[in-house]
Amino acid sequence: MSGLISLTYRSHAEVQEFSVHSLDILREALARNARDGLTGFLHRDGPWFFQTLEGEPDKVHRLVDGLKRDWRHSWLKVLVTTELEQRRFDDWAMAYSTTADVSMMGYFGVSEHIALSLLTDDQARDFLEFAGRMKAAALGGAA
Ligand SMILES: Cc1cc2nc3c(=O)[nH]c(=O)nc-3n(C[C@H](O)[C@H](O)[C@H](O)COP(=O)(O)O)c2cc1C
Repeated sequence: MSGLISLTYRSHAEVQEFSVHSLDILREALARNARDGLTGFLHRDGPWFFQTLEGEPDKVHRLVDGLKRDWRHSWLKVLVTTELEQRRFDDWAMAYSTTADVSMMGYFGVSEHIALSLLTDDQARDFLEFAGRMKAAALGGAA
C-alpha cells in the first residue's frame, strides 16, 4: 500500500457554475493541492459537486474539515474513503469536468437534476468511477 487514501464526497453547489466564485474554487484548489501533495478531480453536474481527493490521510482529512466550513457548497456527504495503491490523477492538482464532458443525468437516464439527489451511494460511486476513468484517459493518465 502507498499510505495514500482516496476520498469521494458529494455536495450541493451554492455558487453559479460560470461565476468568479467557481473560478476561485479551482484557483485555490490548484495552488493548495500542489503545495499539500493532493491530487484529484472535481465534477460539477448542475447543482451538485462530486470530488475525489487523493493524498496523505491527514492532508485529505484536514481539507475535508475546511470544505465542511466552505459556504460555496453545502450538504457535504462523504461517499467513500479507500486506501489507494497508486494515484489516478498523478499530474493533476485538480482536474475538473462538467456536464459538457460527461453528464450524470445522461449516465442514469434521468431528466431532472433533483433525481440525482436520490441516487444511492453505490450509484454515485459508480458514476464517479466512470467519470474519473474518462477524465484520466482524456488527460493521458492512469485510467
Ligand atoms: C466544491 C469545492 C471544492 C474545493 N476543492 C478544493 C481542493 O481541492 N483543494 C483546496 O485546497 N481547496 C478546495 N476548495 C476550497 C476549500 O474549501 C478552502 O480552500 C478551504 O476550506 C480553506 O479552509 P481553511 O481556511 O480552514 O484552510 C474547494 C471548495 C469547494 C466549494
